[in-house]
Amino acid sequence: EIRKLLVLPGDHIGPEIIAEALKILAVLEEELPNFKVQISYGLIGGASLDKTGSAITDEVLETAVASDAVLLGSVGGPEWAHVPGALSPEKGILHLRQRLDAFANIRPCRFYASSLLNQSPLKPEIAAGVDFVLVRENCGGAYFGTKTEFEDEARTEVERCARVSAALARTFGRGKNTDDKSPAIVWNADKANVLASGRFWRTVTHDIFEREFPDIELHDQLADSMAMVMVKAPTKFNGVIHTDNTFGDILSDISGGIVGSLGVLPSASVCGVPGSEKPVKGIYEAVHGSAPDISGTGQANPIAQILSLAMLLRYSFSMPRQADLLEDAVRKTLEVREHGGLGIRTKDLGGSASTQDVGDAVAFQFRTL
Ligand code: NAI
Ligand code: MG
Repeated sequence: EIRKLLVLPGDHIGPEIIAEALKILAVLEEELPNFKVQISYGLIGGASLDKTGSAITDEVLETAVASDAVLLGSVGGPEWAHVPGALSPEKGILHLRQRLDAFANIRPCRFYASSLLNQSPLKPEIAAGVDFVLVRENCGGAYFGTKTEFEDEARTEVERCARVSAALARTFGRGKNTDDKSPAIVWNADKANVLASGRFWRTVTHDIFEREFPDIELHDQLADSMAMVMVKAPTKFNGVIHTDNTFGDILSDISGGIVGSLGVLPSASVCGVPGSEKPVKGIYEAVHGSAPDISGTGQANPIAQILSLAMLLRYSFSMPRQADLLEDAVRKTLEVREHGGLGIRTKDLGGSASTQDVGDAVAFQFRTL
């Protein structure tokens, strides 16, 4: 079967790191005779603005609708700082998310190589072993357009997001160092103590877990206290964090701060429940921006984009084994030699390798695994 992939390289380092992720797809095509990807390319962000006057065109949006997944580079830069907000490069991403109804944003918080631990601003004994994935409702809540109080619509929004959190908890399990195969704990973060919307979020979340996922342990944590505990004892939340758009925005940035290096943080925005019968469509992008300060210098770290591709393989192409292998290849590439790795890292991680060196090393490791 042929997979359809839309690649939107974006601006500045976007195309540089996308090129490295595509090397992995080339390896897959060589190694797996039955694996075929049909890649379309499109413009987004400043590149699209310059050429078409819009940050993403309807044609690109319709190609996205017809694709199985979108691999997205980062957008923006000082060249477009003067354009009015409604036309900003970042609007391209928002339009894409809305057009695809990519309602759940998934951000893992873990150290993909133990050598990354020293990038964390937290003490190693506090940060070591942190392994959670944050699921943020992406298309509703306080951030979006018309305010409605139609309960049914809001209920559906919370429910479908809860189903994503539950599905991830099922595959996540209780962690690598245990034989316990029960689903991961889901931590629900809200402010049910002061917000009516928070009480609604909590009620609907509990309803759906009781009805559809009685086997999954669900705990509530107030979002502000979660922010504090996340810094003091982040391993407490190992498992899945389920939260709304606003708190998810803030908590996911804190979780990024725990890992410490922007260049290694991947993300996925999915349009359905992963792990169900059908693969889900999604948008896969690094958490960081277009890094105009280093574009063209060969210093951009491609790891966040490559790990985003691993998420794409896992959720949109139903290739969890290859996703695991790709994460292993990343670990081997970044890990110091004393721990059996190659120690190949870009400048942001204290190394001296180029974007291409890192991409080539991951592709090589991936091929040999
Ligand atoms: P940024 O994330 O692009 O860069 C912040 C700092 O981290 C810079 O010093 C940069 O060199 C470094 N950095 C980021 N990614 C890196 C990587 N892969 N390897 C090595 N170093 C890396 O954030 P900034 O500078 O605030 O924004 C730059 C542009 O990106 C702006 O136009 C902003 O609006 C846009 N942006 C786009 C996003 C997206 O496409 N999703 C998200 C955030 C910002
Ligand atoms: Mg944010």
